[in-house]
Amino acid sequence: MTQNTQGADGTEGGRGTQDAVRAADPDGARSTTVVVTGASGRTGSRVAAAAAAAGLTVRAACRAQGFDWHDGTTWAPVLRGADAAYLMYPSDIGAPDAAERVGSLAREAVALGVERLVLLSARGEEQALPAEEALRASGARWTVVRAAWFAQNLSEGPLLAELRESGELVFPAGDVREPFVDVRDIADVVVAALTSGDRWAGRIVEVSGPRLLTFGEAVAEVAAAAGRELVYRPVPARAYGEALAGFGVPAEEVEFLVGLFETLLDGRNAHLSDGVRQVLGREPRDFADFAREAAAAGVWKLP
Ligand SMILES: NC(=O)c1ccc[n+]([C@@H]2O[C@H](COP(=O)([O-])OP(=O)(O)OC[C@H]3O[C@@H](n4cnc5c(N)ncnc54)[C@H](OP(=O)(O)O)[C@@H]3O)[C@@H](O)[C@H]2O)c1
Repeated sequence: MTQNTQGADGTEGGRGTQDAVRAADPDGARSTTVVVTGASGRTGSRVAAAAAAAGLTVRAACRAQGFDWHDGTTWAPVLRGADAAYLMYPSDIGAPDAAERVGSLAREAVALGVERLVLLSARGEEQALPAEEALRASGARWTVVRAAWFAQNLSEGPLLAELRESGELVFPAGDVREPFVDVRDIADVVVAALTSGDRWAGRIVEVSGPRLLTFGEAVAEVAAAAGRELVYRPVPARAYGEALAGFGVPAEEVEFLVGLFETLLDGRNAHLSDGVRQVLGREPRDFADFAREAAAAGVWKLP
């Protein structure tokens, strides 16, 4: 992280004082401090980097810094004194407890004067609507960024290990087409929303990549970039859920995920969205660029 980074307690790197925040602004005025939840994850790490590059002071909020979505007593110390927050709810914005937690945190943020909130949601996910509504009802100056399926699902997170080690992506996506979005574009949109006043307040922005690809085509592009054989094997959502249960995933989570995949991947999302162009005035990054860069970093190489 950069010099514009605080610990979750509001101190610079967890050690300094609020003076560090003021010092970040060369004109002497206090620079905008943004709380970034999920800062160790796929989107949050990029939001933190993009926000720091834009001159914002970043307050990372993950469990290592004492912030826990499941423990409301940890929220105020992170939020107090900040101006804005990027909210991502783990592990899914459509999870049954997401609306209650997102709503409670947003209301607490507003009460503490943190009124500018940007929530990551998912395109076409009906289960995410209650969390979006809870944000809107909080009194915040809100923006919802609804994202397509991340390109980085294939290079980071739970799907990577199997793909790299067995050479196979087993997933219940049939031959549906999806406009994979690069999480760096999500981060750029979030930071643009945070740094352009109220231009994007009260708005839902849908972001996708520039091209529709089946999961088979996406894995084939990854294989070509990685220079090794990698294949996609579609399975029914129910069979996928049974495999997850076999790995110890709790029954109610399995039910939630099966329902999610059966709806999200039924073709309703097989279209492009132009949020990246609307907010950033440029085209979204292409999946081929993502695949080439991740391959060059060695993510799909066998150890
Ligand atoms: N994957 C997709 O294609 C996709 C598409 C659209 C929307 N989304 C949405 O994106 C969100 C996931 O974002 P992501 O992929 O950036 O996250 P991620 O890479 O899965 O990382 C999860 C982050 O949440 C933090 N975290 C986990 N449990 C926590 C807790 N109890 N309290 C506080 N922090 C916690 C983790 O940090 P620590 O473990 O360090 O605490 C980590 O930083 C979900 O809401 C999902 O619905 C995903």
